[in-house]
Amino acid sequence: MIVESLHLDSYRNIKDASLEFSEGFNFITGRNAQGKTNLLEAIHIFSLGRSFRTRRTPELVRFGSEHFFLRLIGRSDSGVGFRLEMGQERSGRTRLSVNGKQMKGISEIIGFMPSVIFTPRDVELSSGPPAVRRTYLDYTAAQVSPGFLADLKEYRHVLKQRNSLLRSAAAGGMLDETQLEVWDEALAGKGAAVVGGRIEMLGVIVERAREIFAEVLGRDDGLELEYRCSYDSEAGGEDSLRAALVAARESEKRRGYTLAGPHYDDVMMRIDGEEVRRYASQGRRRLLAVVLKLAQADVIMSRRGERPVVLLDDIFSELDAGVVSGVRNMLSDRYQSFITSPRGDDFPGDIPGAASYEVENGVFRGTESPSKAS
Ligand SMILES: Nc1ncnc2c1ncn2[C@@H]1O[C@H](COP(=O)(O)OP(=O)(O)OP(=O)(O)O)[C@@H](O)[C@H]1O
Ligand SMILES: [Mg+2]
Repeated sequence: MIVESLHLDSYRNIKDASLEFSEGFNFITGRNAQGKTNLLEAIHIFSLGRSFRTRRTPELVRFGSEHFFLRLIGRSDSGVGFRLEMGQERSGRTRLSVNGKQMKGISEIIGFMPSVIFTPRDVELSSGPPAVRRTYLDYTAAQVSPGFLADLKEYRHVLKQRNSLLRSAAAGGMLDETQLEVWDEALAGKGAAVVGGRIEMLGVIVERAREIFAEVLGRDDGLELEYRCSYDSEAGGEDSLRAALVAARESEKRRGYTLAGPHYDDVMMRIDGEEVRRYASQGRRRLLAVVLKLAQADVIMSRRGERPVVLLDDIFSELDAGVVSGVRNMLSDRYQSFITSPRGDDFPGDIPGAASYEVENGVFRGTESPSKAS
């Protein structure tokens, strides 16, 4: 996908802007609180079907205005042009049209324009709690495998039912043992399927992540990602989860919730043999998180056949000059990217075809003429 241009009217602090983009790099600089992230948000909203920062759409309407309007012109990798328009009255619902045709709901846009966004918060992927990594794996696998998504949904459903049974027992109610056995069977079956799907997905991701990591750092091998099954070090199937549930039975009855299953699993990450969560530096954690996001984009792209737009919000702080140029080299020729930074010197002036904008108080000024997307 290529975003060729974006028109913004009364979106956040941007009163009125018409921007043309390069199909390679697009650099957005400006001091803090001027509108850099607002621009990325406005592009990404067409991909996610909502803002990545808020679910309250009136927040997106410029203070003092009654509505916002966005128009994005783009084209698919095969060259088919499209026009997406989104508008919202402060108190009304968000309206969306694709090539002039009104959509029923804004969520109909999901999947149309794949993109990947990296924000400073995403560093959690490498150093945050295990749930962040499980969500990452589950989201990626669900994007490329409808079978996995079905298994995951059923697993969550069974887990909820089983927990509610245990909760009432823990609160002093009678435990329906027959019903519990039914849920045990279902949980073991679906749980093993989820673990299997995640391990398969991680295998694909790790290959891509290693390549990207090596490309950025200019050397091979440093990165290892390994699935950590909470109930069985061999990450075995149904039987081991069933056994773990039996072993946990008495404390589950006391505590009132399920104590074994893939909802406790994690991914172990190592760089040069050292566990990332314990030993890695800030810069390495951030780089690893970026690499994982890009690997995810690549995996989704290769299954879907459409290149995602890459949005990188303030990723360069904490990265040294060598890593910054490694990330840039890796992105070039591969994706259309939008990169923000409060420091203009993160972006060298000599990248052919790149577009740069400086934003101040919601007003964008092109600092080089963008190579016109055809
Ligand atoms: N609905 C709105 N109407 C007007 N201004 C808004 C609205 N929502 C946010 N803003 C303004 O947008 C600015 C923040 O923009 P943004 O988050 O894009 O900053 P930034 O350039 O990314 O800064 P940083 O470098 O700190 O990340 C703030 O000054 C905020 O007051
Ligand atoms: Mg910002």
